Amino acid sequence: MAMTVNQKTSAWVIGASGFSGAELCRLINRHPYLQLSRAFASSVANAKPLAELYPELATVVNIDLEVWRDQNIDQDPLPELVFLALPHEASAKLAPYFLQAGVVVVDLSGAFRLKELNKYPEFYNFKHPSPEYLQDASYSLMELIGDAELNNLISVPGCYPTVSTLALAPLIRENLLCEQQVPVITATSGVSGAGRQATLNNSFCSVSLGAYAVLSHRHQPEIAQNLGREVIFTPQLGAFKRGILATCSARLGKGVTPAQVEQAFQQYYQNQTFIRLVATPPKIAQVENTPFCDIYWAVQGSNIVISAAIDNLLKGAASQALQAANHKFGWPQPSGVML
Ligand SMILES: NC(=O)c1ccc[n+]([C@@H]2O[C@H](COP(=O)([O-])OP(=O)(O)OC[C@H]3O[C@@H](n4cnc5c(N)ncnc54)[C@H](OP(=O)(O)O)[C@@H]3O)[C@@H](O)[C@H]2O)c1
Repeated sequence: MAMTVNQKTSAWVIGASGFSGAELCRLINRHPYLQLSRAFASSVANAKPLAELYPELATVVNIDLEVWRDQNIDQDPLPELVFLALPHEASAKLAPYFLQAGVVVVDLSGAFRLKELNKYPEFYNFKHPSPEYLQDASYSLMELIGDAELNNLISVPGCYPTVSTLALAPLIRENLLCEQQVPVITATSGVSGAGRQATLNNSFCSVSLGAYAVLSHRHQPEIAQNLGREVIFTPQLGAFKRGILATCSARLGKGVTPAQVEQAFQQYYQNQTFIRLVATPPKIAQVENTPFCDIYWAVQGSNIVISAAIDNLLKGAASQALQAANHKFGWPQPSGVML
């Protein structure tokens, strides 16, 4: 399916006025095999050049946002690939129309991440309108899927699940953690995690470091699904713009050595372009505006702490979505992703 540079694959971004959608537009714009042919917002007020909403994109991304109408699907020539950077329920409704028209859908929302239908009313507060797609959706945590093919519906992992799963999966897959002990994840996100629409809870001036959605966050079942076991997950909101720092604490299985831990992380990640195994606990500043996940660990006796950091809008959303598109279309992994 790979195309040459002068036969670029046409892509739309729906939700381009939002934080993740704007990042996608920026990355697609410099992608060697993709052409950002159209980009959409939902509100009339945002039907303007993208650079008027994001001045840092002036002269970088020259595209006028259009207002999304469902009629676009029936009336207009469709792209080969569409990125949905929308609220969960809007994605759940829209994705099937594109799929039926043969368009590859890369969805950044949580609409197709969970395999269990009854989790949607419980964690997402809506009854899923297209449950028949849940099993077919390919969950695209690229560092852990190997060479597996992706279906036409690609569900991009959530931001907290990305960093938490990458931190713990090698240990769990290699049976290095104590079965009886539930891993504990505490992760702090910057305010951009809540999207562009500020509310009192996430407006910069009112945010002060604190936990939220304790034992009820929608990313808990996603992390548990990825790891195949329960976790205790506590998200926190911090007064900074972007990035997530996750601290994962667990007990190692009996007799497991630091050398086995080292070997597991090396085995899974030494050839992964976007994972950096680091020698000191990562800080958010070192991953901000990058597509990397930085992972550090320390072992004391049978206790292990893994500290991992990502940029929520890139590795946690837009750059990870492009990694999936690159895999689907057979392009080199760094295409458009490397800054
Ligand atoms: N922010 C993150 O760190 C992050 C990370 C991973 C995944 N995600 C997920 O990615 C998705 C987008 O997140 P975001 O933070 O970028 O959101 P956002 O900043 O709030 O942007 C949402 C976008 O969707 C558009 N929109 C809203 N309702 C729509 C509808 N019914 N039809 C068409 N367009 C509609 C908005 O248009 P207007 O601006 O014109 O209203 C805007 O462009 C969400 O599902 C989120 O959970 C976000």
